[in-house]
Amino acid sequence: MGIIYNEASKTITLHTKHSSYQMKIGNLDYLLHLYYGPSIRDEDMSYQIMQYDRGFSGNPYESRDERTFSLDAQPQEFSTQQQGDFRTASIEVVNGDGSYSYHGKAVDYKISKGKYQLDTLPCVFATENDTVDTVEVTLSDEISNVQVVLLYSVFEEADIITRAVKVINSGNTPIHLRKIMSVCIDFFNGLDFDLVSLPGRYGQERQVERQRMTHHIHTIGSVRGSSSHQQNPFVILCDKNATEDYGKCYGFSLMYSGNFLAEAELDQYDQLRLVMGIHPKQFVYELKPQEVFEGPEVVMAFTEHGFTGLSHLYHDFYRTNLCQSKFVQEVQRPVLINSWEAAFMDFDDVKLVKIAKAAKNMGVDLLVMDDGWFGKRDDDNSGLGDWYVNQNKIKCGLHKLVEQINELGMKFGIWFEPEMVSEDSDLYRAHPEWTMQIPGRHAVRSRNQMALDMSRRDVQDYLIEQINAILDDANIFYVKWDINRSLADIWSNQLPPERQGEVYHRYILGLYRVMDNIIKTHPDILFEGCSGGGGRYDAAMLHYYPQYWVSDNNHPIDRLKLHYGTSFVYPVCTMGAHISDSGKFVPIKTKAVVAMCGTFGYELDATHLSEEEQEICREQSDLFRKYYPLIMKGDYYRLTNPFETGNMTAWQHVSKDKSESLLSVVVTNLTCNGPQEYIRAKGLIPDAMYSINGSSELRSGSALMNAGLPINREVDDYSSFQFHLKMIH
Ligand code: GLA
Repeated sequence: MGIIYNEASKTITLHTKHSSYQMKIGNLDYLLHLYYGPSIRDEDMSYQIMQYDRGFSGNPYESRDERTFSLDAQPQEFSTQQQGDFRTASIEVVNGDGSYSYHGKAVDYKISKGKYQLDTLPCVFATENDTVDTVEVTLSDEISNVQVVLLYSVFEEADIITRAVKVINSGNTPIHLRKIMSVCIDFFNGLDFDLVSLPGRYGQERQVERQRMTHHIHTIGSVRGSSSHQQNPFVILCDKNATEDYGKCYGFSLMYSGNFLAEAELDQYDQLRLVMGIHPKQFVYELKPQEVFEGPEVVMAFTEHGFTGLSHLYHDFYRTNLCQSKFVQEVQRPVLINSWEAAFMDFDDVKLVKIAKAAKNMGVDLLVMDDGWFGKRDDDNSGLGDWYVNQNKIKCGLHKLVEQINELGMKFGIWFEPEMVSEDSDLYRAHPEWTMQIPGRHAVRSRNQMALDMSRRDVQDYLIEQINAILDDANIFYVKWDINRSLADIWSNQLPPERQGEVYHRYILGLYRVMDNIIKTHPDILFEGCSGGGGRYDAAMLHYYPQYWVSDNNHPIDRLKLHYGTSFVYPVCTMGAHISDSGKFVPIKTKAVVAMCGTFGYELDATHLSEEEQEICREQSDLFRKYYPLIMKGDYYRLTNPFETGNMTAWQHVSKDKSESLLSVVVTNLTCNGPQEYIRAKGLIPDAMYSINGSSELRSGSALMNAGLPINREVDDYSSFQFHLKMIH
């Protein structure tokens, strides 16, 4: 059993294969957090709490003369407000009487089989191979009658624990939620930790940053209305000495695509609190009597095997328990070519067919018609919202165009940016009130576009109808779903002034409803997410789409960092990666090697390639198809860190049975007469013998992992190598 309630000690212990997590209904029924780490027995871990009289740390009324009991120093499972805990709170609620107090005591717990689900938000799911147990712990404030239900599911084999939260207003006056965090964990030994996050910017998403804990609140978050390019809803707390291969790492991955916040607070007694959830900025959510609010799920993983160990836990879990698309497991994804960098908005049906014909010659399976095919979309000033074909460009009509592509033996894909609207569009002219715009003020434009108010049911229904109609009209195999601005002017014409604090979150709920409908109506379509590249690359999006465009930055050398950072949590099979014209001095083969660390495709005008280049592309497309199972389903290892100075970046895919591996190296820097360099493999069987690229000379796994492979240094700039290792005996 993954969850044990111990009657005597009132502890609730969650066990995965290699980790344990413990909470306790403690003194005065406060819910304490006692442990998260390597497996322990079912023992009461509260002995760790050293209780002293802490100056300026108040004592709950019921503790009477017991001056040593203060919530300011107790490790909490869900920190609340106005109880004498001055650290960051997991909830801030304004009660019906105007008070800001939440005095949550544990009143109930319920253990059950299977995974909990949320009604309004995406969640991971259990497969038939999983043993999953769930516990729900209810905290209640007996004065306001507001309940907080903490939900936990334990995926034993996967070493994953998920957490989510619900707030129920059982009182008889409305309350206003101002902050609700999905996870709160207190660690006793806060100085042991570093915090790792994935900050970035447009074109440089998910770079890796590591910081020491100091005595303040370290915040990671987004207030852009989306999880953003600038931060990612994923953080790691790790041992100060953790490396790729060694050290304790705790991962927290939030299933949410809107504003989010993670706070890591090192307190006055060197304890560390981590909370994560929806960002409280401009968040005020009214809950009428009997209404329920759900906070997004956090997927937590723990390992003692460094960043690689943590990545493997997430990769394995997200490959099987996150997205239900048939393209995750059953159906091999096609090699695609996208029209964007080939033609931008300057194309017509004839040009697209020409590109497709040339691409066919390069072994491409799918042509994607990107931005520019709809409404009056000749530049980015107009057309968004008018999801019908521009007859001046697609003169033969969508149906006929798709037929022509299909006749070439290729599939067809299409681009949408559903959440956006141009002022110069029929949609805006018909429904200006559907746009997010504060009455009496000029709205901020970004890329000349405005955002639709996705919180409105009529907007959602319009998008569902329009997009489904296009997808039903022709034989469409693939959809790229884009969003190209951050949100501002948060306002819904459908909500009264006092409820505008709900709009950010309602936008995301509306978006999920639209995506859910379209995806379920078209289960055979392959969806790829995009936000000006990788601006909304998060676990919730990957619940709907099996893949996401990593970045608009296609430069293969920059891509080394982009893939490296993204891979800390998101599996390689989710990473949209293409060969493009970007990187003038980088050989096309190197571009292909880099794009093979992802879904592989092209983003260029195939008609401009020479016969020889097309031939190289054909070989590379075939290679990708050959290595597809290894890349998409194998274990991924980061062999070098591209953020450190070094002359090469290397990574490796290893099949689950370790019998096969693809080791890739890109030379990023050449030095004259430099020392020989070696790349050490990982994840092989030490005693097994492997052939390298079919050679009859065999090397043992331990030689490859400990001595490494010598890399030829007498090569051109940005050369690359792929070593296919095959176990012979
Ligand atoms: C975004 C995407 C690009 C392309 C353009 C089209 O920037 O990331 O790949 O689709 O939009 O406008």
